[in-house]
Formats: sequence, structure tokens, C-alpha cells
Amino acid sequence: MTDHAADNPALELLRTRRSPKLRDFDGPGPGETELETMLTIAARVPDHGRLTPWRFVVIAGEGRERLGEFIGRCFDADNPEAIEDQKLMARRRLCFAPVVVAVVSCPVEHPKVPAWEQELSAGAACMNLIHAANALGYAAVWLTEWYAFDDRVLEELGCEPGQRLAGFVHIGRADGPREDRERPGLSDVVRWY
Ligand SMILES: Cc1cc2nc3c(=O)[nH]c(=O)nc-3n(C[C@H](O)[C@H](O)[C@H](O)COP(=O)(O)O)c2cc1C
Repeated sequence: MTDHAADNPALELLRTRRSPKLRDFDGPGPGETELETMLTIAARVPDHGRLTPWRFVVIAGEGRERLGEFIGRCFDADNPEAIEDQKLMARRRLCFAPVVVAVVSCPVEHPKVPAWEQELSAGAACMNLIHAANALGYAAVWLTEWYAFDDRVLEELGCEPGQRLAGFVHIGRADGPREDRERPGLSDVVRWY
């Protein structure tokens, strides 16, 4: 690591951030004020044309079980052969972390700003949310899974036609040891032009 990163907490946070596994989540989640801070930072992303092409659906407490049950019923209907464990897992996935934020990408027709750019802005909102959560001492992981692409789930979350889920950001404490994964070397991903 280069010297300028030493003693710089922001760089250290960015340099060391990693996602927990769902099973790593433990302990209490963020309070309302912390969540508001995270969402405010999530909404502070580059946004060509100031179109605000994203929305956040906060799924916390009992809401996680309710949406989990909805997802579970969709899973059962689509997978009549599934075993109990699979059915249970479909219902539980949103319950590992105390808070899950569904980030909705809602691009609009615009003469100068293609939908792709607006979708990228929604992705940036996910990443800002993750960084803000980490800065507040929480862990966060960005997951989609099949139900992020399921029209029934989109409708249940209040999405309108043309809106999609950028993903679910699961947020909570995960203070136990967490293994990092291998990261690409710069020479693999950077080309100087
Ligand atoms: C848009 C998007 C969707 C993802 N969906 C999943 C998923 O459904 N399941 C999964 O295991 N990981 C998924 N991931 C990967 C995790 O978010 C995470 O990045 C990875 O497991 C660990 O990398 P990290 O420690 O650098 O965050 C997704 C990542 C992105 C960007």
C-alpha cells in the first residue's frame, strides 16, 4: 500500500471493505437515525440530468418475514419438487440481517440520458449505501438472487412497470472474523492508454 493511504481512515475503510456472508450477521441493526444517514449518503450519487432514478424500500423487523413469506410462496409455486430446507431458505434469506434495503432502479425516458446511465446511478446508490453502513461500523452485502428479477416480488415491493431492482443491500453487524476473497491485481484490470 502507498504511504498516502496510511492514517487515512476513509481510504482504510475503502481499502479493507468486504462483504459478510448472510450467516455472519449478528447483533442489533442500525437505528432510525443511522439508517437515515445511510440513505442520505446513498442518495448522494452522480445522477446525470438530476433524474433521481432510484428509490429505496426499507425492509426491517417483521417486514422481512412478511416479504420472506411472499418470496417463499412464489418459490413453492415455481418449485413443487423442492424439499423443506429449500423452502425454508427461500423464506429466511431476508432475515439474516436486521435491515435489508431494496434499491429500485427507476429510469425514465430522457432525450439525453440513456437508461443505462440511470441504472449505473442506481448501482452507485447501492455502493454508497454499503460504504455508509461500513463507515458507521456495520457490515453490508449487495445481493440479488432470483427474486430480485421476479415480477411478483417487484409488484409486492411497489415497483412500477419499467422499474427493476438493483439489488437488496443487507445491513447489520458482523463482528466475527471474516475472510477476504482474492482481489484482482492492478495489472489485470488496468490498462494505460
Ligand atoms: C449487482 C450485484 C448482485 C449480486 N448478487 C449476488 C447474489 O445474488 N449472490 C451472491 O452470492 N453474491 C452476489 N453479489 C456479490 C456480493 O455482493 C459480494 O460483492 C461478494 O460476495 C463479495 O465481494 P466483496 O467482499 O468485495 O463485497 C452481487 C454483486 C453485485 C454487484
